[in-house]
Amino acid sequence: MSEKILVTGALGQIGSDLIPKLQKKYGKENIISLDYNELPDDYDGILKKGDVRDKKILEDLWKEYKFTKVYHLASLLSATGEKHPDLAWDVNMTGLKHVLDISKEYDTQVFWASSIAVFGSTTPLDNTPQHTILEPVTIYGVTKVSGELLCQYYHEKYGLDVRSIRYPGLISWKQEPGGGTTDYAVDIFYKAIEEEEYTCFVKEDTKLPMMYMEDAIRGTLMLMDADEEDINVRTSYNHSALSFTAKELEDEIKKHIPDFEVKYEPDERQKTADSWPNTIDDSAAREDWGWEHEYDLERMTEVMLENLRKKLSK
Ligand code: NAD
Ligand code: SER
Repeated sequence: MSEKILVTGALGQIGSDLIPKLQKKYGKENIISLDYNELPDDYDGILKKGDVRDKKILEDLWKEYKFTKVYHLASLLSATGEKHPDLAWDVNMTGLKHVLDISKEYDTQVFWASSIAVFGSTTPLDNTPQHTILEPVTIYGVTKVSGELLCQYYHEKYGLDVRSIRYPGLISWKQEPGGGTTDYAVDIFYKAIEEEEYTCFVKEDTKLPMMYMEDAIRGTLMLMDADEEDINVRTSYNHSALSFTAKELEDEIKKHIPDFEVKYEPDERQKTADSWPNTIDDSAAREDWGWEHEYDLERMTEVMLENLRKKLSK
């Protein structure tokens, strides 16, 4: 059967890397992108404008395309969520509920993005287990824990094939990140190339789990392609690659740009960063569907600088 796939939040950091991969795998005509942002005129594919809180828009799209898979990425992230908690709850929860309800009707396979933001300061922050205390400090984290439970409920109650990953901070060069706490780990590359100095909004010893986008997309497609009987986690899988402090990232970039200077001026995002794990135990993903990461700090830094220099013509 040929696939018809909807990607919500398509113009964001993950969608911008995921969609070309899906287009290559399934054909451009089978991938429908949805976003409510300003839509570019030169978008390479089928792009629709719509708010995921509007159920009618989603129902009309499902009626027209009979989606076999949906990658539901539309969301507010952690830092924006703290500025607009009501909106974060509305977009993150109402959007997910609509997607799950319509997918149930059409028997659509669902991918939904969770986050390390489900964890909080009462979670063991080193080698954080798959099953552990989830007491997030942000509204974003609250929506992610609630969303995970809702996904699991739809699987248990209705047999919906819903799969999810708790992404760490994602590092990529195609699209800038959209208002998260881990954004410094991307911003730093732009500033290193453009200005050779950066003011970092977390402390130098802040250590968080991160992943290069290429790994994250490969993992996402592996999870969605895995046999149903191998999927033992229906909340969301821990998914890990590397962890580094802000200072370790600075030092790695300095190997390529020796004059690069970083100042550390932590702001309100430090509190969120402090509540998230240092390292993650993702053995369930490795055992269930064969997850293995490819990018370490050294390789990721090289590829980021190379691609960003081309993008920024520097
Ligand atoms: P992003 O902020 O870059 O993109 C989100 C997109 O969703 C934007 O293009 C925005 O216009 C769109 N959007 C927002 N509200 C919408 C609405 N009501 N209707 C339709 N579209 C709407 O986010 P991202 O980094 O691509 O993240 C995608 C998913 O992955 C999110 O669920 C996020 O929580 C999760 N995630 C991301 C990271 C990361 O580091 N990027 C880490 C963990 C989890
Ligand atoms: N990168 C995301 C954020 O910082 C993690 O979910 O919000």
